[in-house]
Amino acid sequence: MPTGGVAPPQGHSGGRRGGFGPGCQSREPALTVWIETMASEKGAWPENVGILAMEIYFPSQYVDQEELEAFDGVSAGKYTIGLGQKRMGFCSDLEDINSLCMTVVHNLMQKTGTEYSSVGRLEVGTETLVDKSKSVKSVLMQLFPAGAETDVEGVDTTNACYGGTAALFNALNWVESSSWDGRLALVVCGDIAVYASGSARPTGGAGAVAMLVGPHAPLVVERGLRSSHMQHAYDFYKPDLSSEYPVVDGRLSIQSYLGALDQCYRRYRQKAAARPGGSAVTVDSFDAVLFHSPFGKLVQKSLARLVFNDFLQADDATVAEKYSGLEELRGKTLEESYFDRDVEKAFMERSRDQFEKKTRPSLLLASNVGNMYTPSLYSCLVSLLVSKKPDELTGTRIALFSYGSGLASSLFSIRVATSNGSGSRLEALLACVSDVMSRLESRQKVPPQVFADTMKLREESHHLAPYQPKGDPSVLFPGTYYLTGIDEKHRRQYSRAT
Ligand code: ACO
Repeated sequence: MPTGGVAPPQGHSGGRRGGFGPGCQSREPALTVWIETMASEKGAWPENVGILAMEIYFPSQYVDQEELEAFDGVSAGKYTIGLGQKRMGFCSDLEDINSLCMTVVHNLMQKTGTEYSSVGRLEVGTETLVDKSKSVKSVLMQLFPAGAETDVEGVDTTNACYGGTAALFNALNWVESSSWDGRLALVVCGDIAVYASGSARPTGGAGAVAMLVGPHAPLVVERGLRSSHMQHAYDFYKPDLSSEYPVVDGRLSIQSYLGALDQCYRRYRQKAAARPGGSAVTVDSFDAVLFHSPFGKLVQKSLARLVFNDFLQADDATVAEKYSGLEELRGKTLEESYFDRDVEKAFMERSRDQFEKKTRPSLLLASNVGNMYTPSLYSCLVSLLVSKKPDELTGTRIALFSYGSGLASSLFSIRVATSNGSGSRLEALLACVSDVMSRLESRQKVPPQVFADTMKLREESHHLAPYQPKGDPSVLFPGTYYLTGIDEKHRRQYSRAT
């Protein structure tokens, strides 16, 4: 157990002036309160480490999935009912992973009034690589004002959609370690999810999430309750570095996802039971259950899968009480049931109410923007937060399942704090994301042909140098960073939309 950190850099907390900026409209400067409390606590193991503030960015343009069905010539309902998607956000050639991450970090820091000198660790999770060596984190350092502290640990982490969770775990570990110097950690995850035309294309999307991590958080990541499953699989990977598109084995990716979920859930339950005073974990242990969300239908099947796990673990009396009518499925196994229609149908039906209550609210962004890859799970957290009032969230417990093909996966949990001033910090966190609905509704719908042309342009221009983007900056949300050019040495320049 860490016994304390080294002294923070001179004046690192004294340098904080602002509290929350006008974007958050909080009555209390919550982060300022926190950092002063934190300064007096150096030397103790920090308490209630978790997420202090969040911001999400998604593109200003989208394509309607119903229109895309007609355009692609597939049967009506395949993308909307079959996959459970409504709209898909996408980026023109004006946006890349650097611009996405700059936009979300700039917005988070501005909205919370956080100074860059308060950040001691900056981690990026992404699978949208534009450079095999230079990290997105190093690009983000240009946001730090001249003269600001550059003693900032962390670089990028990559493993498909899991990199953001690895970045978050690194940040939490740093705050809880002997290396912590009292400053905040900043976690950024971003991706542009694009597929070659064909069956995977409607499961694309794009976006970025930034999170400030530290002690006394309103969203506390529960200690000692993380479980992981890591395995070699060629379900989705990007071996062709000249292309943005992955190689995908769709069926294997679903099987790998569900298999990883089973493994993580089993280990999470074991760890929870082994804790002092530990008890059996079931889906009933959580008020909300969030998943990495490639498409809504898989998420609904995943919640059903957890209930199927509970059913297989239950004793006869519980089966008779809670699962009557399903007894004949007792002989089914996890390994042989990934695509078993009887199991799927029975547990989708049995878990329908739980899905509506515990998971559906988290799919607002995933169904309207699509799979953002690394930010996907954290977009679910934002969606849950914007769907509730603070008093509906306080004291609740949230399970989060993160999956990245290849494969890496983890299940962990968050408790929404109830005391010690965290109420006002929760309100401040919620205020930061309170504009999500209005931003979603202010996006511009474009015809599928424009979307297809844009994908073709990205395909043809990816990694060209020198290159002058052809997209129109006037369609971007104000404040969005965008690429203005790539020179002959592949160096990228950016500007910010007004
Ligand atoms: N009306 C209603 N439902 C329909 C219709 C229709 N007209 N047509 C098809 N469907 C249903 C199908 O029955 C199926 O549902 P089911 O699985 O519950 O039976 C669903 O729509 C999808 O149809 P499929 O024929 O299975 O779709 P296809 O194989 O063409 O593609 C896939 C789906 C594999 C998910 C593809 O989009 C893909 O490869 N995506 C990328 C990989 C991915 O996202 N994997 C998830 C984890 S890894 C990651 O996050 C990247």
